[in-house]
Amino acid sequence: MTNNQNLEKEIKILAIESSCDETAAAVVVNGRDVRSNVISSQIDLHTLYGGVVPEIASRKHIEKINQVIEEALAKAEMTLDDIDAIAVTYGPGLVGALLVGVAEAKAISFARNIPLIGVHHIEGHISANYIENKDLEPPFLCLVVSGGHTHLVRVADYGKYEILGKTRDDAAGEAFDKVARAIGLGYPGGPKIEKISHEGNPDAIAFPRAKVADGVYDFSFSGLKSAVLNYLNGAKMKGEEINQANVAASFQKSVTDVLVEHAMHAIDEYQMDKFAIAGGVASNGTLRKAMEEACAKKGVKFYHPSPILCTDNAAMIGAAGYYDYLAGKRAGLDLNAVPNLKLGE
Ligand code: KG4
Ligand code: ZN
Repeated sequence: MTNNQNLEKEIKILAIESSCDETAAAVVVNGRDVRSNVISSQIDLHTLYGGVVPEIASRKHIEKINQVIEEALAKAEMTLDDIDAIAVTYGPGLVGALLVGVAEAKAISFARNIPLIGVHHIEGHISANYIENKDLEPPFLCLVVSGGHTHLVRVADYGKYEILGKTRDDAAGEAFDKVARAIGLGYPGGPKIEKISHEGNPDAIAFPRAKVADGVYDFSFSGLKSAVLNYLNGAKMKGEEINQANVAASFQKSVTDVLVEHAMHAIDEYQMDKFAIAGGVASNGTLRKAMEEACAKKGVKFYHPSPILCTDNAAMIGAAGYYDYLAGKRAGLDLNAVPNLKLGE
């Protein structure tokens, strides 16, 4: 390290994420240096019910949040005295779940007089790409595919987003979860579909590649989900045995094809030379491989976070929060949870 760098102040951010079913806290220095990333997942609890139960999620967040924050600080070998700002997800997500993180962040901010930053959850997912790719800077195109969102976003600059397309109905991850349930794989569906698809033939069943007539970059996955359900019903009526692996592989291929096609179209039209994926579904190996190959053909640089940074976590909120901090964005103690918060608000 040069003397010059030594003189530069390090900005240490404590980040908190509680928008869905993970209670998470992290310490991130200067946006890209993750000192700790603690995630307490409630997934086993919600598996009993086949999906996330909002009331249970809120209650579990309350139980876990202090412990998770303490662990994040301890792992980073810091105390609140070292922290320059607190970044917290304030939307979108489940209102009761979000409120736990927001109330906690506000309490620490007030008690210790530490600046507070409200972060958009999707902005966090996109920013997860900065952590392991130190060279990645806007502008770039990002596809956010999670259980709640399917957004194709042009990242014009830090904190400046243009949504080119989004889903009109189910999110990509939601489709994975619903199809997994229909073929008896259980929750959460994404990883289970991916696993069993390795034993199946992706060309076995011709499921539709849904197009949205009046929005080239918009997605629709409910038609695909219905096509899978119709296929399953049809087979049942005819007394045919269902090959789970073939259904999973063919469904996964159909989702992947649509995502790749939309992304490549946008890359061409907006002349982007960098493309990133983010969100829970971005850990899907088939999707990654297809995106990687398509980008390589165009000479476009492809970025993706490690699986642990694809799923909900607080390190990504710390990364996004850092650039908001640099831009001077601060939240007041009236910060509230906004369950349907739009990107760019
Ligand atoms: O980003 P995330 O953890 O939470 C939300 O913000 O929604 O995404 C969770 C979603 C779930 O729908 C899950 O089934 C899906 O991501 N997912 C996957 C894979 N791993 C998680 N989908 C496909 N393949 C995977 N390997
Ligand atoms: Zn998420």
